[in-house]
Amino acid sequence: MKALCWQGVDELTVEQVPDPRILNAQDAIIKVIASTTCGSDLHLLGGYIPMMKSGDVIGHEFLGEVVEVGSEVRRRRPGERVVVCSIIGCGRCWPCRHDMWSLCENSNPTSGITDLLWGGSTAGIYGYSHAMGGFRGSHAEYIRVPFADHNAFPVPDDVEDMDALFASDAVPTGWMGADLGGVRPGDVVAVWGCGAVGQMAARAAVLLGAERVIAIDRYPERLRMVERQADCEAIDYTATDVDAELRERTGGRGPDVCIEAVGLEADSAGPMRVYDEVKQQLHLEQDRPIAVREAIHACRKGGSVFVLGVFTGFVDKFPLGALMNKGLTLRGAQQHGQRYIPMLLDRISKGELKPAQMATHTMTLDDGPRGYDMFKHKKDGCVRVVFRPS
Ligand SMILES: NC(=O)c1ccc[n+]([C@@H]2O[C@H](COP(=O)([O-])OP(=O)(O)OC[C@H]3O[C@@H](n4cnc5c(N)ncnc54)[C@H](O)[C@@H]3O)[C@@H](O)[C@H]2O)c1
Ligand SMILES: [Zn+2]
Ligand SMILES: [Zn+2]
Repeated sequence: MKALCWQGVDELTVEQVPDPRILNAQDAIIKVIASTTCGSDLHLLGGYIPMMKSGDVIGHEFLGEVVEVGSEVRRRRPGERVVVCSIIGCGRCWPCRHDMWSLCENSNPTSGITDLLWGGSTAGIYGYSHAMGGFRGSHAEYIRVPFADHNAFPVPDDVEDMDALFASDAVPTGWMGADLGGVRPGDVVAVWGCGAVGQMAARAAVLLGAERVIAIDRYPERLRMVERQADCEAIDYTATDVDAELRERTGGRGPDVCIEAVGLEADSAGPMRVYDEVKQQLHLEQDRPIAVREAIHACRKGGSVFVLGVFTGFVDKFPLGALMNKGLTLRGAQQHGQRYIPMLLDRISKGELKPAQMATHTMTLDDGPRGYDMFKHKKDGCVRVVFRPS
């Protein structure tokens, strides 16, 4: 079958790879209908995620049709249209049973690497390195889905492909940021980053009752989109001092909940970008935590900060003093999609969430390298590229 493969920093190729087959009795084979780019893939392309191997198939946010199931799959059957959570849960371990699916203890067979680095590992993630299980990704014609009963969700007939697709990752990730960030009715919520994840976090905050949502980015088309999606206010971080602007707009108090949806390649209009990039290149820190620092500084006393953006290791100038003295709560996670996907499909079906508009570009897999170039450099207003393998 055809697949989009990682070959090295900023290098992708379209290759023929063997078709996947059932390896375990709880697996299903899914024929991919649509698979989309994610900001997390940019970290792979940038060479920031260790343990990638040349030829690895990337992609983790996808929709497909079940074509084959293993002998112990009970709930899924061939012919069903399903959206699959980008992060793999087993459904049986302690974190899965406590709805913390991205911490699954059974789905990542290569957890030893991150156990050493972090003192604990994440679940397996499709197409996301040999530290996250070494699973083949979804930018392919077919994909093997482990523990299919817990990870593949049937899509209601009235939900279109392009809406259902984002219920795999961007929608539940954004929802988790607002939910576990503790958004309550009447809150002021600030969201750093207006890619698909930030846009969905802003919309989730509105649906959870936030009185005002303030979104921060530099791309005007993304800011306009999030203003429309979430009925929120926008700040262009290249045009103003974000901290001063947030203080001004909140009567000097700061947002109640701050959601970071930027990640380890954060940018800045000021000197911090150069500072962090030099430190990153000298391996004095792994990640650029520019938006995390800003969020902690801007957050109101006693408020909470949720980190959705992906980070890998150690950072410099972490504002621990602000965190401690302002009594903040800081949380983060890879998404616990299984906890939210059925509820989110229901909200999509009711028209409360309209994620399809993030699919600004659609291509075939053959155009994969060009699609990622557009997505990385945000060319032509690109928010997400969707690949249709056939
Ligand atoms: N926690 C999870 O499970 C999960 C799931 C999906 C994606 N992610 C992560 O979420 C992050 C965002 O993903 P995406 O798909 O929306 O990516 P994206 O690249 O489309 O969007 C990131 C946005 O952040 C903006 N940005 C950069 N620096 C900024 C700053 N200082 N302040 C405000 N905005 C800034 C960029 O302009 C860009 O629009 C990535 O780090 C990705 O890896 C996490
Ligand atoms: Zn993702
Ligand atoms: Zn589990």
